[in-house]
Amino acid sequence: MTALPLPADLFALSTGRIHRAAADLWPGERLTLGDHVPSVTGYVHRARIGARDVFAKDSILGLSLVSVLRGLAGGGDTVRAAQAAYAASPASLLAREAAQLRALHTAGVHVGRCVGYARGVLFTESVTGPTLADLIAKDPARTCALMTAAVTGLAGLQRPPVAALVDAAPIPERSIDGTFRRKFNGVSGRLYVERLGVDRLDERTRRGVAAVVGVVVARLLKLRLTPATGPTVIVYGDLKPEHVLFPDGPTEAPVFIDPGLARGPAHHDAAKLVSRTVLALVAAPPPDAPVSTVADGIAAFVAAQTRVLRSPLRGLWLRRLLVTWLMDTVNILSTYLTAPAGLPLPEHAQAVIDRAGALCTLLDAVSAQLAAGTDPDAAWRLALNAAMRAAAR
Ligand SMILES: Nc1ncnc2c1ncn2[C@@H]1O[C@H](COP(=O)(O)OP(=O)(O)OP(=O)(O)O)[C@@H](O)[C@H]1O
Ligand SMILES: [Mg+2]
Repeated sequence: MTALPLPADLFALSTGRIHRAAADLWPGERLTLGDHVPSVTGYVHRARIGARDVFAKDSILGLSLVSVLRGLAGGGDTVRAAQAAYAASPASLLAREAAQLRALHTAGVHVGRCVGYARGVLFTESVTGPTLADLIAKDPARTCALMTAAVTGLAGLQRPPVAALVDAAPIPERSIDGTFRRKFNGVSGRLYVERLGVDRLDERTRRGVAAVVGVVVARLLKLRLTPATGPTVIVYGDLKPEHVLFPDGPTEAPVFIDPGLARGPAHHDAAKLVSRTVLALVAAPPPDAPVSTVADGIAAFVAAQTRVLRSPLRGLWLRRLLVTWLMDTVNILSTYLTAPAGLPLPEHAQAVIDRAGALCTLLDAVSAQLAAGTDPDAAWRLALNAAMRAAAR
């Protein structure tokens, strides 16, 4: 194989594409690139076009940057050639994201609007204001209200125009279950686990983490099959707290960025929100409140989500939420741990890596309960307690 792609080379190609895309879309106007926003997924830049603040995003082959840099799509030359074709495809990831942003806006869902798409590059209007993650950190007592506002703000997803678009141009790439299977199935999955953290952890910690993740992955691969997931709805896809912004303050409707709409199980978005809220709690506990304030808020949010469900269904939903939460946590932890040392990581990613041991204890405890068939309500209470212990310093 030719040499692995290097971050600086990929970034230079993306920057060139962003400039050419802007020149196609706005021939008379000047594009000024601002800060690079570190991401393990895409290449994102703040930018100005004329007098407008925007975000420019490029995706390499629709894969995560970490996967591309690890050589999943081949060496540097292969990636460069494949990307030239991918960027021109009407089915590229960001062409679908552009179409989804337009459909969401039409359906009355508040999103950071698409202002242009060309050559595989997506330009969105800049949404200003704190994220759901910022607001929970600042005022943990609002956790339940904020998480509920995120779900309520997406009610429009189930409207017919959105469903029609999703069936024509879904983004299945953000499925937690799909990502988990892609990463961990078979021999390549086992090799991937064995090498977790080689660039990012000391050898002793690394071996401990790889051993626990191996056990947890084996349990989850069994659990995700039984029972099969229920009816599918339209899910937002990547509903993490960083993708929900509150430009008009914490009591007004949120605005969403980075959709990955697809058909999926009804617990998917809530599981993502829970997973990433717990992850933020473990990585950066609120400075002025006990961690239980956030955990109580998460518990109240989930209780409200399940209130309409009758007893056996409610238990199933909770169990699926727990399995999906754990799969998402393993997905993101392993992505951070396999990111090459040259890739700048997003905010809190280093803190997540530093807490890998505590996260492994949490993953092990909760997956053991699920594997033992513990009653879902009891498993859920134990899981929140384990999350609080992982977050305690
Ligand atoms: N339109 C926007 N308005 C405000 N912030 C934005 C916008 N687009 C992107 N950002 C910022 O850039 C970050 C990365 O952008 P985005 O989520 O679209 O890319 P990504 O590659 O999918 O990243 P990630 O894997 O972190 O989700 C966002 O979390 C947000 O902080
Ligand atoms: Mg994103």
